[in-house]
Amino acid sequence: MPSIFNCCVVVIFCWFSLNVGSTIRLSSNERALQDNVDIRIYPTVIYTVDRNFLSLAISQKMLNSTRYIKKHFKFRSKKLQVIAEALSPCYLRMGGNRADFLIFSINETETNEAQGVMYPDKSYQSMPQLNDFEYGKKRNYTNFTMTASMWDDINQFMTKVGWDFIFDFNVFLRRDGQWDPDNAKLLLKYTASKGYRLAGWELGNEPDDFHGYGFDISPVQLAKDYTTMHNLLKILPDYKNFQIMGPSVTQLLHVRSQIFFSDFLQNGGGSIVTAPTFHHYYVDGRIAAMGDFLSPYVLDGLAPEIITGNKIAAQYAPGKRVWIGETSSAWGGGAKGLSDRYVAGFMWLDKLGVAASQGIEVVIRQAFYGANYGLIDWQNLEPNPDYWLSVLYKKLVGSKVLQVETSDKTRHLRAYAHCSTDKFPAGSVTVYILNLWTTAANVTSSMFSNQDMQMFLLHSDGDLRSQDVYLNGKLLQMDGNSLPDLMIPTAVRAPVSWPAHTFGFLVLPNAKAQACM
Ligand SMILES: *[C@@H]1O[C@H](CO)[C@@H](O)[C@H](O)[C@H]1NC(C)=O
Ligand SMILES: *[C@@H]1O[C@H](CO)[C@@H](O)[C@H](O)[C@H]1NC(C)=O
Ligand SMILES: *[C@@H]1O[C@H](CO)[C@@H](O)[C@H](O)[C@H]1NC(C)=O
Repeated sequence: MPSIFNCCVVVIFCWFSLNVGSTIRLSSNERALQDNVDIRIYPTVIYTVDRNFLSLAISQKMLNSTRYIKKHFKFRSKKLQVIAEALSPCYLRMGGNRADFLIFSINETETNEAQGVMYPDKSYQSMPQLNDFEYGKKRNYTNFTMTASMWDDINQFMTKVGWDFIFDFNVFLRRDGQWDPDNAKLLLKYTASKGYRLAGWELGNEPDDFHGYGFDISPVQLAKDYTTMHNLLKILPDYKNFQIMGPSVTQLLHVRSQIFFSDFLQNGGGSIVTAPTFHHYYVDGRIAAMGDFLSPYVLDGLAPEIITGNKIAAQYAPGKRVWIGETSSAWGGGAKGLSDRYVAGFMWLDKLGVAASQGIEVVIRQAFYGANYGLIDWQNLEPNPDYWLSVLYKKLVGSKVLQVETSDKTRHLRAYAHCSTDKFPAGSVTVYILNLWTTAANVTSSMFSNQDMQMFLLHSDGDLRSQDVYLNGKLLQMDGNSLPDLMIPTAVRAPVSWPAHTFGFLVLPNAKAQACM
């Protein structure tokens, strides 16, 4: 009896391991495709992304967490500043669900919490939370104070590291069904008096999901509130140059969110915002598994949402390019032991590739700091693998996007191409490649023939859950307060053998692509 039982378990286990993620059984045809993948790079620019295409988010929750701000994330830390500077130019969007509980005060010196209100826990949604989130309970949401000295620290940090700062106002401050702009006015007057220059503003967070708090603000009303905010910005001298992000709906997969996005833009929001925004997460952080990060099916979920967003924006906000206003691998604070590990890079790099080639102008990564998806470790501030990937992306990938197709119809070998950054000769092309196969793939392209190419392979030590990442065999880590040299390519020629379960970049400095001249 026990032996039959064991036998069944073994059979089921084997069947399961052959079918999950990328280890699906291959027909000989698929096997051949995997071994030799042709990348076709079309010589025309399909989109130009913003210079801040790869941008960052921080949750306002951090501001009322003495645990983070006082103990670890010190704005005046030299190491933190060096780490941040390497990601410039970028937007830093400070927002998230705690934005709708923040109250600015000039007089208070502590981040006093007012009496809390119990709301259903929204962390099952695409809610940014830090490490101490709880699931399946009611949460005690409290208003909290942002003091003037915090605002000073933040703004001085942004200036110092060269980040373009976008701040999300509290839309829950309401009077007679309208947004009450008094607290925002106070903040703007203070900002003007100090001469701080912000890059943009937003009002509220994920408004298609407020019913989770037990009330709704209609998209028509939110558009009116945005108009109020827009008029208010005239307090600032350079108000004409601001980015206005919105409406920052949770996603564009479900019809309810699509309708919110569309109604907001159609009823006045479309002429106020400079960037129509939606948020995107692939999977639920509580149940995400390694296979999700390596699944072409999961990764392919993003493009349809972008296409939907573009279609609606083209109709109701003509001429405005859509931004992914907050995005990461997994919602609910990320997946523990995955979202800050090597394997997270598959979702991050693929997202950048899909977004750029579908016409998204800016992608805002949740989060630079905090929760399981931070680019840096929340305690010792050491960079996580996605940090190094982001820095390398900024060094190698330019803003002109080229159209790419690959011969791998199973979409396990994924490739994207842009003109290179101006660190390389005019006409250079940077291709970025992800291999989801469990074996190496021969990668070829007509553009690769007779080219001396520079390979920047980011790989693990074999454990995809490792918090370490290697660039061409070299472990990437800070050297005290300095960054290591990342311009250490390996010279390669076609066909390039691309190792299993790795991603990285191929730069063609002599491609002389007309589109990139
Ligand atoms: C990859 O290409 C090389 C050179 O053409 C060839 O020798 C090798 O057999 C190929 N490998 C696979 C797995 O197809
Ligand atoms: C919620 O938190 C606040 C501030 O910490 C506290 O004063 C209040 O009693 C809490 N409310 C409930 C219902 O737990
Ligand atoms: C936050 O403050 C506003 C304005 O004073 C108030 O209307 C709201 O109920 C407060 N929310 C919480 C969660 O305490």
